[in-house]
Amino acid sequence: MVLYVLGLVALWFVYRWYKETKRVPDKKGKHVYITGCDSGFGNLLARHLDKLGFCVIAGCYTEKGEDELKKISSDRLTAVHLDVANSESVSKATALIKTLVGQKGLWAVVNNAGVSLPSAPNDWLTVDDYKSMLAVNLCGVIDVTLSVLPLIKKAKGRVVNVASVFGRISPFGGPYCVSKYGVEAFNDSLRLNMAPFGVKVLCIEPGFFATNVTNGVLVKDNLKKLWDKLPQDVKDDYGQTYLETTLVQLDERFRQLKDSDLMKVVSCMEHAIAAVHPRTRYSPGWDAKFFWLPFSYMPSCISDRFFLKYTPKPKISVL
Ligand SMILES: NC(=O)c1ccc[n+]([C@@H]2O[C@H](COP(=O)([O-])OP(=O)(O)OC[C@H]3O[C@@H](n4cnc5c(N)ncnc54)[C@H](OP(=O)(O)O)[C@@H]3O)[C@@H](O)[C@H]2O)c1
Repeated sequence: MVLYVLGLVALWFVYRWYKETKRVPDKKGKHVYITGCDSGFGNLLARHLDKLGFCVIAGCYTEKGEDELKKISSDRLTAVHLDVANSESVSKATALIKTLVGQKGLWAVVNNAGVSLPSAPNDWLTVDDYKSMLAVNLCGVIDVTLSVLPLIKKAKGRVVNVASVFGRISPFGGPYCVSKYGVEAFNDSLRLNMAPFGVKVLCIEPGFFATNVTNGVLVKDNLKKLWDKLPQDVKDDYGQTYLETTLVQLDERFRQLKDSDLMKVVSCMEHAIAAVHPRTRYSPGWDAKFFWLPFSYMPSCISDRFFLKYTPKPKISVL
């Protein structure tokens, strides 16, 4: 009986593997618009899809990013200046995309652009710190998507949203998790809304990978700058030791968790764009699969206890 069940499970995995290997035809006739292509996942994805034969429209935040990407790509790739936090910039890029894709429409948009700073305990921050990150990570995703949605409906194409495991669990303060929870909510409602139109909406939830977003030097500098600006009473609540322990712990955690194989994420993005049967969610990274996601399903009393045990305590902590 056990062997019979194991055999069925193995058969199901083989069937799923076979189903997931199938790719959509006519890559050369399909346009894919990616935001945040200057560096990290976006840059690697743009180059990877270009090699596979897709017509890539790469949204770059800087002129340098645009120039460098153009130099190393085929002439199928179009680089366009894009600030996702600026509606005028988003509209300009959309106008260009319309002329490029013509009657075929846009096959896919990948909402990848994002920032991770400022990040700190919530009471170290102001509402403007939240607004600036939400403008990129959440409103940017919504603005870009809505602006190209008619073109995607025309192609019966795809929206790929890059959220994070921190859209499923929120173990540190600041706007990052807030923005990624928002992306998850937008993603889930859009998936339902778009299903009747034949548009697929897919979500990527990576764990920790070595990019600018997880650059230890930048994250620590940001924390020190925020500390220096804190009012004295908040500094007294936390104490200098809190800052020092947090900085040491950040190094340790990044060393333990960061994966430098960005292709793990890019392969998931490619599957979401090009597979005939894409998955609804992808969670690249061992930390995502075996640590953050299991924790996100646990009762809060257990996950809170764990996180409080392993994070530094403010000087006047009652715990
Ligand atoms: N790395 C990770 O561990 C991790 C984990 C989970 C999710 N993610 C998500 O993955 C996505 C890609 O990040 P990444 O890790 O590849 O880091 P990254 O190298 O910093 O990539 C983010 C890109 O977004 C661009 N960008 C920043 N502000 C922008 C704006 N206003 N408009 C347009 N583009 C803008 C950046 O340009 P500049 O380089 O010129 O600033 C950069 O090219 C982000 O959404 C991030 O939240 C990353």
